[in-house]
Amino acid sequence: MSHDPRGDRYWKEQAESFSSLYGGRRRLSPKAFVTRFLDARGSLLELLADAPDQVRVLDLGCGSGVHLAQLAPRCRRLVGADYSERMLRLAHGASRGAAGLVLSDAHALPLRDASFDLVVSLGLLDYVRSPPDVLRECRRVLAPGGRLVLSAPKTPSAFAWLRSRLGNRIKQAVFDLPPIVNVFDRAGLLQLLRETGFVPTDVASVWTTMWMVRATRQEATTRGGGWA
Ligand SMILES: C[S@@+](CC[C@H](N)C(=O)[O-])C[C@H]1O[C@@H](n2cnc3c(N)ncnc32)[C@H](O)[C@@H]1O
Repeated sequence: MSHDPRGDRYWKEQAESFSSLYGGRRRLSPKAFVTRFLDARGSLLELLADAPDQVRVLDLGCGSGVHLAQLAPRCRRLVGADYSERMLRLAHGASRGAAGLVLSDAHALPLRDASFDLVVSLGLLDYVRSPPDVLRECRRVLAPGGRLVLSAPKTPSAFAWLRSRLGNRIKQAVFDLPPIVNVFDRAGLLQLLRETGFVPTDVASVWTTMWMVRATRQEATTRGGGWA
């Protein structure tokens, strides 16, 4: 799977187009289909994030800030990170000043070690150059006992045809979305999480096309091995 720079341009230049997929669509428009999918994902986040009050939360790849707004009422500290300035401008409006916003690439975050209790990352792993590096950054910024709630494109999927060359053209024309770069089967995703220092605890799928996973930061268990 190679990294696709078309995605980079899309997020940095067409943030408003992605943001318009959330909420308020007419029932029968093609984009209403994506809106319903995103709503289903947001409901699952509500279950998995299950954050007690006063936690420190990072939304990595926060985009236009829909989930920052969702999480804000129960956080002591809330930070959104994204490499798209336009997205962060939208996120500023959506979170109404409740979140600190950091312009940053997810592969190298300018955030302190062990400074969050929960990292949420929805729709990011799909597009990044190196999923393992991004997950290692998630682990680095999590405090001991911290949790990760992550989405990732699923294979097999009833919607896999949308990832073919023709499917990508259709996706771009109808939904104005860039091609997905990384997809995972269940075993591959769980193995990646373990290799990057997480213990997966819950795995669900949304519409057969996306994994939603909750994982806990793995602590060192063995002498000379495991995680520091
Ligand atoms: C599908 S959107 C998801 C946005 C938001 N999490 C949501 O669920 O609405 C993907 C987001 O990831 C951001 N992104 C993609 N690659 C990134 C990277 N390497 N570093 C930081 N942000 C990245 C994009 O700018 C975009 O905001």
